[in-house]
Amino acid sequence: MSESVLSLKDVRITNGFNGQELVHGVSFDLQPGGVVGIVGESGSGKTLTCRSALGILPEGLSVSAGSISIAGSDISGLSSKQWTQLRGSTISAVFQDPASYLNPSLTIGSQIGEVLRVKAGLRRREARSRALELLAAVHLRNPHLVYDQYPFELSGGMQQRVLIAAAISLEPRVLIADEATTALDVTVQAEILDLLSDLRQSIGLGLVVVSHDLAVVAQLCEEVLVMRSGDVVEQGPTAKVLHQPQHEYTQLLIREHEQYGLDKFLEAADV
Ligand SMILES: Nc1ncnc2c1ncn2[C@@H]1O[C@H](COP(=O)(O)OP(=O)(O)OP(=O)(O)O)[C@@H](O)[C@H]1O
Ligand SMILES: [Mg+2]
Repeated sequence: MSESVLSLKDVRITNGFNGQELVHGVSFDLQPGGVVGIVGESGSGKTLTCRSALGILPEGLSVSAGSISIAGSDISGLSSKQWTQLRGSTISAVFQDPASYLNPSLTIGSQIGEVLRVKAGLRRREARSRALELLAAVHLRNPHLVYDQYPFELSGGMQQRVLIAAAISLEPRVLIADEATTALDVTVQAEILDLLSDLRQSIGLGLVVVSHDLAVVAQLCEEVLVMRSGDVVEQGPTAKVLHQPQHEYTQLLIREHEQYGLDKFLEAADV
């Protein structure tokens, strides 16, 4: 088996202000081109787990036990400068609410171009052609048009594609998608999930897909972690967890989602 691009071993996250432990041990190994899903109700610790791997835990919160490695290197001793180098170029992320991550007063092209110039050291012309390539890679129909548009001129789904383009612009090994499709309508959500799945195959991107929606995880992930109140209550190959849920909370999630197309997945999946 090839080396994990992201590995969490019994990661615990504690609030240093009051000593409260918020995440009680998360472990998984993400292979190049692999997909790990994290599902669970609001407040279960999904985002904190992701943020720990991105080195962006909120102030006062820290990894209090366990270890995280990215592409084989332990991240515990990284300085903020080293984190700045790693983020984007090795591990990257997209979140819910794409509009809030785009500068409303700059064109899409200049925002992606900026990343390429500052972080990849490309010259203006190279940055422009690479930005256009990236916009095409995320299946935006008219990259030249989008390049000169402002964020408000794009739909939510297009904005999220732009952010995915920016997130993969430095060719990271891992992309974390934390509720990245939650705010989008169902058709657009499916298109973005297809896009992520494509990128996984075309550039070997390892994905961590976080959703409160089991159907999203079912569509994309090979392995799933089910979290509740900071605990991983169940973890395993997606088909197995969905067909033979052991924990009553997973059983509840599956019952809740039966109307939303999970049945189709369960029929298609061969356990
Ligand atoms: N900055 C913070 N300070 C203190 N506690 C926090 C902070 N951020 C999150 N928490 C707590 O940590 C727990 C896990 O939060 P987290 O954001 O990881 O949940 P989540 O599973 O991503 O939820 P959601 O589905 O709503 O996004 C919650 O109980 C939350 O209140
Ligand atoms: Mg969250």
